[in-house]
Amino acid sequence: MEDNKIIILKNGIDIFGNKIEILINDEIIEKISEKIDESRFKNNENVRIIDVEEKLIMPGVIDVHTHMREPGITYKEDFTTGSHACAKAGITTFYDMPNTIPMTTTLENLLEKKKLASKKSIVNFGFHFGGSKNDNIEEIKKVLRNGEVNTVKIFMNVTTGEMLIEDDKILKKVFENSELVLVHAENDMIDKAMELNKNYGKGLYVCHIPSAEELKKVISAKKNKELNTKDHPIYAEVTPHHLFLNTEIRESTERNKMLLRMKPELREKSDNEFLWEAINQGEVDTIGTDHAPHLISEKLEKITFGMPGVETSLALMINAFNEGKISLETIQKLMCENPAKIMKIEKRGKLQEGFFADIIVVDTQKDWIVGVDDTIESKCGWTPYENWKLKGKNTMTIVNGKIIYENGKINDIPKGKEIKFSE
Ligand code: NCD
Ligand code: ZN
Ligand code: ZN
Ligand code: ZN
Repeated sequence: MEDNKIIILKNGIDIFGNKIEILINDEIIEKISEKIDESRFKNNENVRIIDVEEKLIMPGVIDVHTHMREPGITYKEDFTTGSHACAKAGITTFYDMPNTIPMTTTLENLLEKKKLASKKSIVNFGFHFGGSKNDNIEEIKKVLRNGEVNTVKIFMNVTTGEMLIEDDKILKKVFENSELVLVHAENDMIDKAMELNKNYGKGLYVCHIPSAEELKKVISAKKNKELNTKDHPIYAEVTPHHLFLNTEIRESTERNKMLLRMKPELREKSDNEFLWEAINQGEVDTIGTDHAPHLISEKLEKITFGMPGVETSLALMINAFNEGKISLETIQKLMCENPAKIMKIEKRGKLQEGFFADIIVVDTQKDWIVGVDDTIESKCGWTPYENWKLKGKNTMTIVNGKIIYENGKINDIPKGKEIKFSE
């Protein structure tokens, strides 16, 4: 794949079914219209004109919840393999979580992680800083002051990693000294996080809400004018696995009993249904994958929490669209627009003139079988959706105006950039 300065995507369809053509100049979307006049670019070898044959053109997906395992746990995943998995699936920006080794709980560790991602990632990336059980408030202040991150992730329940914070004094200080706080909080810990946010915080993002019961809590808090205000808003994230998998599927085979384990654990079919309903009522803000790869050998040997997710998230959602479960508009909102808005990412998450050209071309009608009709890019080498028959697949990924995935092939020269904040 050669690099063209100018790319014109012709004959596309947007999420509303309207004709759309896009002129990309260098890394920016220069023009979007029903018809781009390409005559002025004839005979210019720096220009590539691509007929996308009435496929869907969308902004690239922004996944704000991934565990890329680098540094320290790179036998499971690293920024190269993890970003390849994103590129294939249509994710143009990922946010990495802090539970690596060492943990991303000091400025120094954060800067080291940034260096590694810059060298290796072929898609864009951002980072959530970690709150430490050993009180790293001074480090939190430093990284926020320097504008190195604008989010802090804390763990309020046991899960993979050594980051559980149980000390109320530390929790309070984290909320007092952060901007948006992302929480791994289950059951009562959700109530606690919402209280902390109300009393001390500037914003709360509840990760991977798995059940009707927990989502109901968050929905009613979002409607409560004291708990959810402009000064301390509340956001709700749901993962694909809590939408598409449940205990029935987990208990159906001995293998699934080991593989389909994660925190929060899978729930009942009725919970899947409640989550879908809430999504369609506009009560959920984002789809985050919680991409948490472990080797299959580790998973089969003992209960290990976490599953890969970036390679299948968009395809599963497009398949759900084909089944009448969700609109393309909602998919774009939860997977592209809202993540950019909530994390205050500059000039990404939307197809808009002047924004970065992070664009995907999706064949919504493509029938394919997961793990059979494609390769698995994640280093962990497996997916919980193996052999699932899906309709809908990403066919092209453009990051910062460069094609990094096309016709099943990855262009693996790193082109990812660290995202910038809009405020
Ligand atoms: C995650 C992991 O493996 O890093 N595991 C999980 O079960 N979800 C950690 C987390 O997000 O809780
Ligand atoms: Zn690869
Ligand atoms: Zn978690
Ligand atoms: Zn996670």
